[in-house]
This record gives sequence, C-alpha cells and structure tokens, in this order.
Amino acid sequence: MSVLASRRILLAVTGSIAAYKAADLASKLTQAGALVDVVLTPGAEKFVTPLTFQSVTGRKTYTDADLWGGEAHVLHVGLGQRADLMVIAPATANTLAKLAHGVADNLVTILALAARCPILVAPAMDAGMYEHPATQANIRLLQERGVYLAGPGEGRMASGLVGLGRLLETPELIGHIRLVLGRHGRLAGKKVVVTAGGTQEPLDPVRVLTNKSSGKQGYALAQAALDAGANVVLISAPTALKPPVGAHLVSVQTAEEMKDAVLVEAEGADALLMAAAVADFRPKTVAPDKIKKQAGAPQLELEATPDILVAVAGLGSRRPTCVVGFAAESRDLLENADLKLHSKQLDFIVANDITAPDSGFGVDTNRVVLLFSDGRKLPLPLMSKEQVAEAVINHLAGFLEHK
Ligand code: C5P
Repeated sequence: MSVLASRRILLAVTGSIAAYKAADLASKLTQAGALVDVVLTPGAEKFVTPLTFQSVTGRKTYTDADLWGGEAHVLHVGLGQRADLMVIAPATANTLAKLAHGVADNLVTILALAARCPILVAPAMDAGMYEHPATQANIRLLQERGVYLAGPGEGRMASGLVGLGRLLETPELIGHIRLVLGRHGRLAGKKVVVTAGGTQEPLDPVRVLTNKSSGKQGYALAQAALDAGANVVLISAPTALKPPVGAHLVSVQTAEEMKDAVLVEAEGADALLMAAAVADFRPKTVAPDKIKKQAGAPQLELEATPDILVAVAGLGSRRPTCVVGFAAESRDLLENADLKLHSKQLDFIVANDITAPDSGFGVDTNRVVLLFSDGRKLPLPLMSKEQVAEAVINHLAGFLEHK
C-alpha cells in the first residue's frame, strides 16, 4: 500500500460507540506505513482512551486537554497544516452539523477549520438521525464544499435498530482513504480497464467449466490503478473478492460476456489490463436441464471461445493506448509469452510460471517477467500480488507518459 506509506493522516474520532472501530483503523493505517495523529473529542473520550490510540500508533494522541496547554497554537495550526488528509471517523451528527456551520468549539472542529488538506468524513449515528433532513442538509453542504464522504453503511446499530448509519468497516474506510490520497497520481484522469477472475462456461444450469484463477492479481491491479488516480472499470468473472472502493464493477460470467463488456469499456480507454483467465474452450451446447448421472457419463463437445485481445486489436484506432496481456504458463514461459505479445499485438505482457508453488493461481505471491514489444525483458523477484500490481501500474504510467 505505498499510497499510504509515510503519509500524514490526522484521524479525528468523535463521540459514537463506533469510536472503538477507529482504533482498528488507526492500527491498520499505521501498519501500512502511514503516520497517524489521533485527536479525540470529549465525547469520544467517554468511549475510548488516548492510551488505546497511542498504543496502536506509537504517537501521542491529542484531546481537548492539550488545547488549553502551552502548545495550543502549534497544535491547532500545526497538526492540520502538516497533514495530507484529515479523516473524521466516526463522524457524529453533532460534529457534522458543527463542521457544516464552521463551529470551532473543540480541538477536532478547530483543526477541521485550520486544515488545508482534504477532509474525509465517515458518518456513524443511529438509524433515523442520518436520514434526518438536518443531517442530510449538513452533509450536502460539506460535500458542496469539497469534503469527501465515506458511507455510512446499512445494518444493525448498537441500539438494535437496523438502517443506514453504520460506520463503514476498516477495509472500506481504507479504500476511501486510498482514493483521496491517490487522486492526483500518475494515472489521474486516465481510464483503465482491468479484467479479472476465471470465466465460467456453463454445461447445464448447475455446472460450469472454469479454472483455478482467484482474481487476486486482477483485483490488486485495479487497486493499484486507483491508488495512481485512475478511473477504473473492473470487469470481473465470479470471484470471492470484494471489489476495491472506487472501481466501477462490471460482473460477467462467460468469455463471450467478458468480450462484449471489454469491447464496450476498452474502446478509446487509456489502458486495458487483461488479467482474467479466460476459458479457451466452452461446451458447444448447454443442456437446458441438469444432466442426470443415470444417463451415464456425457460426451462433452467443446468449441473455441472468442479471443478477447484479438477482438480488441480489431478496434484499430479506437484501441486502448496501452494493452497489457498476461501469460500463465506451465512450460517454455518466455517463448510462449513472447509469441502472445506479438500475436495479440500487446504493448507488454506479464508472464508467470504457474508450476512454482509460490507463484500464479490462488497464492498471494507471484514471480513474473515483463516482456515489452521492443524486446526488453524485465524479470521481477518473488513479490506479493500487490507489489506486482504496483510494478505493472508504474510501467503502464511510464508507457502512457512517453506516448
Ligand atoms: O492465449 P492465452 O489464454 O494463453 O493468453 C493469455 C492472455 O490472453 C491473457 O491476457 C488473457 O486474459 C487473454 N485472453 C483473451 N481471450 C481469450 C483467452 C485469453 O483475451 N479467449
């Protein structure tokens, strides 16, 4: 998560029972390399203590007691001015109302007025309070002023009521934070289409032919492109993964559906990253009813699926500026990848040997070689799929910058 590394995040926690979740957020942000300064309102101090946050961030946590100390000026100007992002999570209806009207009656609201960095608010309040016209009007006002909004989610509240008002979970909050921090990155304003997962080719209403792709590498690419500020369309075959916050998800099942979606989305796009494991063959006919075992083992007749990258090459001048393919090979890795690089008219290809236990399908790591159309070959060491994704996105950004 290099988009978070060494970034200064001012995390303001206000008086909601969801304040305990902010400790997890502070911890995960710190683990990702961010420098997290936490400020608690008096209401938040009723639910959690400064020690909780100091323990997970390794940094001083501030409260209103600091506001009246000798360093008050340094605090309310300095903390806000050096931050890359101010996150108010959870943000109560009361704090949102104060922010909307410029009230500055505690350290958090003073900082929100003094800060020159973007502000992200993650509302948390009981059902009904969020939907109240007053809260809605305050949120609208804040958004019009450029404040970013994360959530709230829907579900059960601490009161037992069910509705809109739950603080988003940590991974989603981090997704929103990444989106704001990355918005001016190297791919800002670029449209990047990513495909991911293994397509499923139906045999009958319950059975499919598919492969072992988990979708992890494709989803990591979508996240890395978002971190670099791109507008991301993620065309995904079924996976068990949550799409990254900010990606526009297009769900497909078969190679045919994926081809149709890619041709629509990739036309005129800045980049297409074809990480999906697309089935090469599908059953020639799909049985209308479940095939019964009493009839004995069926003979399957297969036919070729369309090659999506070949169809993309046919877009001609409307083809994406940069087209990247993936080659998962069990033998002759470089020869096979090189063949695909040229036959599919790619700008570069990411080749990985799927026979290694620490590389390829299902696992969290990958060992890849990048092959470029000008003949350059760049082997990368064993890395997490997130690191591979960042490396690919950096090469993509370099390619687009030199076009
Ligand atoms: O031909 P092969 O499947 O080995 O090539 C892999 C690359 O081609 C991947 O980028 C994959 O997403 C893409 N592909 C495709 N259409 C297919 C099969 C693969 O675009 N029908």
